[in-house]
This record gives sequence, structure tokens and C-alpha cells, in this order.
Amino acid sequence: MSVKILIADHIFTPDGFVSDQAVAFDETILAVSAPDHLTSQYPEAEIVRTPPHTVLLPGLINTHVHLEFSANRTELTYGDFMTWLESVIEHRDELVARCDNATMEAAVQTMLRSGITHFGAISSFGGDLEVCRRTPQRVTYFNELIGSSAATADALYGDFLERLNHSFHTDPAEYITPAIAIHAPYSVHPVLLSKAIALAKEKHLPLSTHFLESPHEREWLESHTGGFLGFFRKFFGTDRAVTSIDEFLHAFDHYPALFVHCTQTTHAEREHLAERGHTIAHCPRSNRLLDCGRLPIEDITAPLSIATDGLSSNWSLSLWDELRAALMLHHQGDLEKMAERFLRAVTLDAARALHSDAGRIAPDAPADLITVTLTERVERDEQIALQTLLHTQEAATVYIQGKKVL
Ligand code: BEZ
Ligand code: FE2
Repeated sequence: MSVKILIADHIFTPDGFVSDQAVAFDETILAVSAPDHLTSQYPEAEIVRTPPHTVLLPGLINTHVHLEFSANRTELTYGDFMTWLESVIEHRDELVARCDNATMEAAVQTMLRSGITHFGAISSFGGDLEVCRRTPQRVTYFNELIGSSAATADALYGDFLERLNHSFHTDPAEYITPAIAIHAPYSVHPVLLSKAIALAKEKHLPLSTHFLESPHEREWLESHTGGFLGFFRKFFGTDRAVTSIDEFLHAFDHYPALFVHCTQTTHAEREHLAERGHTIAHCPRSNRLLDCGRLPIEDITAPLSIATDGLSSNWSLSLWDELRAALMLHHQGDLEKMAERFLRAVTLDAARALHSDAGRIAPDAPADLITVTLTERVERDEQIALQTLLHTQEAATVYIQGKKVL
């Protein structure tokens, strides 16, 4: 692939924004430097001058999305996690049946147009694999394991392994990385949990789990009471949780994973996640709609990813929309610093959690790049992250592995 030099007013690097610089890349980023310097270093390169007020960023990474639930608009009930979960169970077959490839294709296309070059697809059934194969984006394909009942554990594990093996049979050009998602502490039997974590560790697969999402979940795991008691009596004929918070958490101690939601964690649990090298994925709009509480991001020392979750608990799959919502939800933080932290959360920190070397504009990183063009000059350099976050709906151009896909 021939070398390109992309010149933009502002470039988001791992050290923050730099101005009046350029990036030289083929499939990989070769250098970030002054335009004159790069043109003499790479005299044969194609020079791409972006319009005024253009911001160049690493492609955005949405670590947590459920494509198989993309058909939902108004069917599922919001306002309380248990009510929502029951509505998912009631409508699941019909929602999944309506979610054909065209529906999922539209979902991945809106993500691509918004500048998402890589997403983590939580796959419950394997029905999204074909769409993930076809899309130009990178996909971390999280085969989900679920099943709290010992009686059905073997069958469910067998089904999970079959889906996982299937996702290994992809072409490298399809940019799919097989991965494992544990559904949640309340829904996965501890025997299945340790088997799946051991497998992830042995094969070095990215690993993810929903964790302490709702107050109901915490109460159930701690006291076997609350909204989940009625739920488990009704659907499973049981009245005891199969695991405890500590047992579940410590099962991940020797393999860093992505812990999604964590809204109901304590300070000590958040510190433990940080100490063990885990990343926390924050889905502010989903948390609000399901009444899960606010993740205290000011108390997180672990790397932070921000993700949309699926259309089963959101109205769009745009990370720009998600970041704006996060900025409003966490209304007491410093705006400028928070905006930069959020951009890092959807690029570098997200990449690390998905075992990817992208997410950064720096030499040797894969050339996953997006440009967004603001309508006017940003008066103060300290506000480039904030103004970009406030005003962007779609990317102007998108490169994945150096190839222009939009
Ligand atoms: C289970 O398989 O145990 C389960 C599935 C969904 C929600 C809760 C539990
Ligand atoms: Fe989720």
C-alpha cells in the first residue's frame, strides 16, 4: 500500500491534541510530525489536505453492543431493570426474528458513519456473525455464555463452544477476533464460569462480562432477595443465587477482562478491578434507561471504556451521542478534562481492553483513523476535545488499516 500524508488542523495523540501536524501512514502509522518534514521524508506519498477545522482522531471503538437486538425501538420497557428484563424475555423471540441481516447491517453502517472502526459484538445466538464478517470494521466477536442452572449447564456450554469454534473460522481479511462474554454473575453457574475463563486464558481471547449493573443484582447476590427473587422463582423455580459477588469477581483475578456497567460496585470492588488490570465499560444511557444508577467515574482508577450497549437499551449506536450523554450525567466534573478523558475512553483504553494495538495515533499503530470537520475555528486549544464531542454527528472520512472505507 502506498504512503499517504494526512494533514489536519488538530490531531488527537496519546499525549493529547497537537496542532498543525500531519500523519504519514500505509497500513500502519509511520510517523506524526510537521507536514514539511513528512513530505521530505516520504517524497512519493500522496498528500491529503483536509478542510479547515478538521480534527484527526483514532477510529472510535465501541466495546459493547448487542447487534441481535437491533430491531427494538419502542417495545422494551424502560424505567426499572427487572421490568426491562421481563420485557426482553417476553419479546425476545419476536425481536430476534425481526432482526434480520438488513437490520443489523443498518446498525453497523450507522456506527461506521459515526466513526466507529471497531466494535465488540456481544453475540447471544451467533445470528450476527455473517454481518460481522461482511462489515469493513474490526469486530471483537464476544460469544456469550449464559446458564445458571446446573441441570442445563452442559448443554449450554456445548452450544457456546460450538458458536465460539464457528467464529474462529473466519478469513483474516474479515478482521474478526473470537472472544468470550460471560453474561452476568446471576446468570452463569460457577462451574461454567471457571471453564470459560480458563479457556479465554489458554487461547488469549478477549473476555468480557456484565457486572453489578442493577441494585436488584447486588441485592440478589448478597441476600437472595429483591426483584430477582420473584424472577428466579418464576422462570427457574429457585430462590438462591448460584454465586456471590466475591466468588465471581475473584474468578477473573488472573486474566484481565472488560467489566461492563459496574454501576453498583463499591469503592473496594472498583479498586480491585483496577489492581487486577481490568477495564470498566460504562454505558451511561443504558444505565439511565434501566434505572441502574450512576457509575461514579470520578472514583475509577481502572482504564475506562465508554460504550453504547445495544438498541435493546438505547436509541442510537453513536458514541458521540453516548459521550454527550455521559458529559451531562457526570455534571460535576471539569468539562475540558472530562471530554479528553472520554475521547481516550473510546480510543486507546477501549483498544487495550479488546487486545488491539489500534486506538492511538502513534508510530507502529494500525492506521485506523477518522476525520471530523467542525464548521468553525475552536477559539481555545483546551476546548478542542469538548467542542469536537459536542458538535460531531458523523465522521467526514474513515480509514481502517490504512484503507479509506468512507
Ligand atoms: C439463566 O440462564 O440463568 C438466566 C438467563 C437470563 C437471565 C437470568 C438468568
Ligand atoms: Fe449489555
